[in-house]
Amino acid sequence: MRAKIVAGNWKMNKNLAETETLLAELAAKLPDTNAEVMVAPTYVNLASAVRALESSKIEVIAQNMHFAESGAFTGEISADMLLNIGIDTAIIGHSERRAYFGEDDEILSKKVATALDKGIRVMFCFGEELEDRKSGNHFKLVESQLKNVLFNLEPSAWTNIVLAYEPVWAIGTGETASPEQAQEMHAFIRKTISEAFDATIANNVTILYGGSVKPGNAEEIFSKPDVDGGLIGGASLVADDFIAIIKAI
Ligand code: G3P
Repeated sequence: MRAKIVAGNWKMNKNLAETETLLAELAAKLPDTNAEVMVAPTYVNLASAVRALESSKIEVIAQNMHFAESGAFTGEISADMLLNIGIDTAIIGHSERRAYFGEDDEILSKKVATALDKGIRVMFCFGEELEDRKSGNHFKLVESQLKNVLFNLEPSAWTNIVLAYEPVWAIGTGETASPEQAQEMHAFIRKTISEAFDATIANNVTILYGGSVKPGNAEEIFSKPDVDGGLIGGASLVADDFIAIIKAI
């Protein structure tokens, strides 16, 4: 049975006090759920978040990581630095990293390899731009994003991979993919993995949807057979909204 996950990507939001306030509220209001619940605060607040949630079921994850062991990479964070503070899951390949920081397939392949070598679970983000979808190229684009970074992995590596399909046109826009669009793409992703590896790996990999998930649309999106949860941006910054989305899975 593949894991159900609701993860909050806080992006560049919340100072330390705001982080502690939101985490205390989430911990207090967390409902009973079989889903894994995760939050990704900013780097500067990760260690405090881990301490704040040490008696909670909520897991703290990283929004990113560098591929190098250590060294002259100003502003970057290594896998070992994350592990050292108790973080063992990292978002890799978010569309904003791709768009604003030039993270291409080569860089993402290195990040995935380093994360897996270090025993860090990878939450791999990918998804098409609006023009890809409008031109009917979205399936081919998503397939290439997966193939170029993940399809050279050993089959055993897939136990440490979570996929997050995030159509770029739905991120932060309020323009959510319809449940049918999400299901169609998730089923395509699973079929593509099955053909490249095998049906067991394809059936066991968790595939999250991300892109304007809100309390009002989460339940229908999560009800689809190949949608295993969500990677939530804006709505994860408001305790009651994130709790409502958790209740929807
Ligand atoms: O990583 C999740 C994020 O990209 C989705 O953002 O604000 O559309 O939920 P949002």
